Amino acid sequence: MGKKQIKIAIDGPAASGKSTTARRVAQRLGYRYIDSGAMYRAVTLKALELGIPTTDAKRVADIARHTRIEFVSDRNGHQRILMDGRDVTDLIRTHRVNQHINPVAANPQVRDILVKKQQALGQGGGVVMDGRDIGTVVFPDAELKIYMDASAEERARRRVKELHNRGIDVAYEDVFKEIQERDRSDTSRAVGPLKKAPDAVVIDTTRLSVDEQVAYIDRLAREIIEKQDC
Ligand code: DC
Repeated sequence: MGKKQIKIAIDGPAASGKSTTARRVAQRLGYRYIDSGAMYRAVTLKALELGIPTTDAKRVADIARHTRIEFVSDRNGHQRILMDGRDVTDLIRTHRVNQHINPVAANPQVRDILVKKQQALGQGGGVVMDGRDIGTVVFPDAELKIYMDASAEERARRRVKELHNRGIDVAYEDVFKEIQERDRSDTSRAVGPLKKAPDAVVIDTTRLSVDEQVAYIDRLAREIIEKQDC
C-alpha cells in the first residue's frame, strides 16, 4: 500500500528562511511547494499595474477574485508564478510591491479568497506550503506544522547579504526597519495574523544552517509519514 501524502505548513516572519527551506523539503519528499506569499504579491502587483490604490479594499478584493494565479515548473525545475498566464516571478519581488503589500495582506476579503485557493491547491496532500497563517487558518489539519523564527537583526543581515549577492546595494538600517515594520503589520492584523499554531514545532534558525533545517523537517515529516501508512 502507498504512503499517505501529508500536508506540511511552514509559517514564520519575513526573511526567516522559510521559502528556501520549504522548497528543499518539498524536493526531498517529492511534494509540491506552494509559496502563499506569492499570491498576495501577485494581487498587489496587479493593483499597482491597474493604478488601483492597494488601500481600496473593494477593488483589490475584486482583483483577488478575478485573477488566475498558477505555480508551474520551468524546464530546469524552477518554480515560476503565472498571473493570468503571464510570468511575474521576478516582478512580484520588487521593493515597490513590498511597499504596498500590507493593506492587501490585511484585507479580510482578499484573505478569504486566497485562503480558499490555497486550500484547493493543497487538496489530497503531498504539499509543503509556507506563509503566515498556514498552520492556523489554511491547513489547521496539517499533519506537520513548523514555525520558523530568527531575530530581526539576523533576518536583516541575511536579507542584506542576499541583496548584495544579487548586486543590489542596501543599507542594513533600512532593511532592519522594513523588517520591523513588516513584523508589526504581520502580527497585528485582525484577520490571519502571523501566529504560531499551538501544535507547531518551533525552529529558531538564528544559529542553524539551511541544510540543518531541511534535514530536521525532513526527518519529522518521514516519521509522521511512516506512522500514516495506509
Ligand atoms: O512571505 P512573503 O514575504 O513573500 O509575503 C509577502 C506578504 O504577504 C507579507 O507581507 C505577508 C503576506 N502574507 C500573508 O499575509 N499570509 C500568507 N500566508 C503569506 C504572506
